[in-house]
Amino acid sequence: MAVIATSSSLGLAAKLSRLLSKELLVAEEKVFPDGEKYLRIPGRLEGDVVIIHSLHPPQDERFMQLLLAVDAAKGAGASRVVVVAPYFAYARQDKRFLEGEPVSVGVLLRAVEAAGADALVVVDVHKPSSLDEWLRIPHRNVLPIKELASYFQGRLRDPVVLAPDRGALHRAQLAAQVLGAEFDYLEKSRDRVTGEVKVVPRSVNVSGRDVLLIDDIISTGGTLAAAAREILALGAGRVYAACTHALLVSGALDKLYAAGVEEVVATDTVPSPVSRVSVAEPVAEAVRELLS
Ligand code: R5P
Repeated sequence: MAVIATSSSLGLAAKLSRLLSKELLVAEEKVFPDGEKYLRIPGRLEGDVVIIHSLHPPQDERFMQLLLAVDAAKGAGASRVVVVAPYFAYARQDKRFLEGEPVSVGVLLRAVEAAGADALVVVDVHKPSSLDEWLRIPHRNVLPIKELASYFQGRLRDPVVLAPDRGALHRAQLAAQVLGAEFDYLEKSRDRVTGEVKVVPRSVNVSGRDVLLIDDIISTGGTLAAAAREILALGAGRVYAACTHALLVSGALDKLYAAGVEEVVATDTVPSPVSRVSVAEPVAEAVRELLS
């Protein structure tokens, strides 16, 4: 077995190759003058191959590289190709919200399978049931919440873990188990007279307590910055933000720190200045399971 790295996930691929005790091969990549992508996996492959390639921005380019890498691995002799796409892009468009829209996540998942992938591992994909819905190949969704929560162990005073909405509550619950903390989700309410929108914890009192806000993605930082402001206005102690995928576009970190967030921590599914927690161990476990 070999682990194949592309430029999108070099650090994580190196950790994974050590954990799986497999050779690390780095794909050659270039762009033709007209913008088309070129990729080559050096050497002859045999047996099972794991391709590590996260789909963070520029997503479209990286997605094209992933399809090329899968075909290249198969063509170079791999018998099975396990794709590890730690951040799986386009996953938030998981249904036709408006008539005429695509189900983008389905388009990408089917394309990965059609390119020749034999199994897929993703990390904290926006809606895990999308994988069952669109894939026929074996797949795993790794949820790195224990790893993220462990980072904060012993650092928080009388902690509360909050999800920014009901859909993210399972993450807050898992993190709270690790930290021995209370958990809740934030509810949006609108003042019927003034029209003012407020985000408040549904039932837990945050006054004087440290709060860990946890979500799958920080993109612009708008969701967690708004949550942090409201929580601090309710008298919370220190507010921390954790996420799996730190896309950090449009000055997200500045926005969060300006809103009063003490520290932002993410995993290494997307390389970023706050990627302090590695998903390598649980991803290696998922790969072993799929190949056993
Ligand atoms: C939304 O469905 C996701 O779970 C995140 O809450 C969202 O992507 C965060 O985006 P932003 O950081 O731009 O508010």
